Amino acid sequence: MSTIPTNPITKTARKKITTLALRQKKDNGEPITMLTGYDYPTALALDQAGIDAILVGDSLGMVVLGYENTLPVTMEDMLHHCKAVARGAKTALLIGDMPFMSYQASTEEAVRNAGRFLQTGGMDAIKLEGGRERLEAVRAIIGAGIPVMGHLGLTPQSVHKLGGFRPQGRSAISAERLLEDAILLDQAGCFSLVLESVPAKLAEMVSKRIAMPTIGIGAGGGCDGQVLVTHDLLGLFDRFTPKFVRKYANLHSEMEDAFKAFIKDVENHTFPAKEHTVEMPEEEWNALVEHLDHKGQTGG
Ligand code: KIV
Repeated sequence: MSTIPTNPITKTARKKITTLALRQKKDNGEPITMLTGYDYPTALALDQAGIDAILVGDSLGMVVLGYENTLPVTMEDMLHHCKAVARGAKTALLIGDMPFMSYQASTEEAVRNAGRFLQTGGMDAIKLEGGRERLEAVRAIIGAGIPVMGHLGLTPQSVHKLGGFRPQGRSAISAERLLEDAILLDQAGCFSLVLESVPAKLAEMVSKRIAMPTIGIGAGGGCDGQVLVTHDLLGLFDRFTPKFVRKYANLHSEMEDAFKAFIKDVENHTFPAKEHTVEMPEEEWNALVEHLDHKGQTGG
């Protein structure tokens, strides 16, 4: 049996997507697609759908683990989910998101933790948040041979510094700072850059001024690619839906309907039905009943 993944539309084998392939897409003017994934079945479906990149985002802290923000997520949480995704997706570029305090305290710790994403987590690259203040870590990680995706704009690990989950780069001063940070990350050798919740005009300008591809989330159509949190796109996360999300399904309510139907069927004795039941050969059953009867009479 072949293990080479095929494109479900064309039935042709798809080649593993590399960081270089993303760069080529930008150069050819082809949009890049990225979605988050946190588990094996979702990774499998994303891969079979033909997504370019899967980000095992620390957003899993909110949409899978139920935290208020991404700050409590640990390296162990991330590696656990990365391994599951790597078992499911064989074609998409796999990017592991470095969690809060896994790269901020020291450059050495940043390199070691980045390495764990590739060595233990099965990822192809890592993502981390921040601009000029992270340059030393970014350079050292790339120096160790690990591809780095940057992340500017609304950087959720700085939620308290930013005063909440709010758009960034809306003043001339902050927009210029963001552009400078993007150029610095590009020059440092990052292979791609997430721009989150920034004005569309600014994201387009940044995308044109740097060589690496930008992947936008709430950053308009001028980026080189788009990413969404899969649980938002599927309507699986019930707490809130950011303005920039397009919901392609409503799985939370579909799940609730399915669970209610199961409860009703069990309560009405309509599940399990005959087709869900294991049968026993008649003669074996009769033998059992006879044997038990005999045991009851003889006390043996
Ligand atoms: O953690 C995440 O899912 C992200 C995306 C929103 C880009 O960083």
